[in-house]
Amino acid sequence: MKNKSLISINDYSKEDQLKILEVAEEFEKKPVQNILQDHVIASLFFEPSTRTRLSFESAANRLGGKIVGFSEASNTSVKKGESLRDSILTVANYSDLIIMRNPLEGSARFASEISPVPIINAGDGSNQHPTQTLLDLYSIKKTQNKLENLHVAFIGDLKYGRTVHSLVIALCNFNTTFHLVSPQELKLPSSVKMFIKEKNLEYNQYVDIEDVTEKADVLYMTRIQKERFSDPLEYERIKDFYVLRKNMIENTKENLTIMHPLPRVNEIEIEVDKSPKAYYFQQALNGVYVRQALISLILGLK
Ligand code: CP
Repeated sequence: MKNKSLISINDYSKEDQLKILEVAEEFEKKPVQNILQDHVIASLFFEPSTRTRLSFESAANRLGGKIVGFSEASNTSVKKGESLRDSILTVANYSDLIIMRNPLEGSARFASEISPVPIINAGDGSNQHPTQTLLDLYSIKKTQNKLENLHVAFIGDLKYGRTVHSLVIALCNFNTTFHLVSPQELKLPSSVKMFIKEKNLEYNQYVDIEDVTEKADVLYMTRIQKERFSDPLEYERIKDFYVLRKNMIENTKENLTIMHPLPRVNEIEIEVDKSPKAYYFQQALNGVYVRQALISLILGLK
């Protein structure tokens, strides 16, 4: 993984992904390690973020590294018309590694092709969010004690949800049975389903959430991605299609883990947070350990 960009989750092999989870476990046991003190990380967020940006920054700070960057493009020379190419070539002069979130699908791949330093894709449009996937795998392994042979239900906006796309692709390595719950308009794209079909894995599509709650080992809730809709009225019509309520988890499996990449809008009732099955805030914390592992491995420090 040394010096290797991470743009799509399958840029890294199953073995690489498992190695990251193993190193993340070490960081969970000992989160403060001064191994990054001679390094500068650039954090370029052209799109809003709370968890991804701050957990990367927290990860770098806990390793003794320095962070430069921005959380909105409006304060940068992009505002004056600078191209992504020129921005990346410039920032690469100031840093050892670039973390970038950008609304344009394919922008992270483009950046990795021209950058002299490795790029980590922190989300490119509705395409991929590979570091979220690594922390999701870590969270599943921690709560289920395994990654193989699980029934995983994805619920919500499977069309635009980039965390869903990356995680489905990653779970194809672990003999997963997929339960895909969405409105007709927001089904998982064929380009992602292709990965499931290639591995001859089972998947079923549903509209009703009640059809999957009792089958699932993992319920992966997602919000409807307002920012990807061209028609605001269409978003308003569909935004509360799924709300996971306390009574809906009463007859679920003992080992069920309820996950959500967050931010939550309205798709999980607050009452559900009290359930021991609700794992989304711990999931967000796991992002720090996994991102510490990823940064360390890419920079050859582990
Ligand atoms: N999960 C996630 O990507 O959250 P943010 O948009 O807050 O970074």
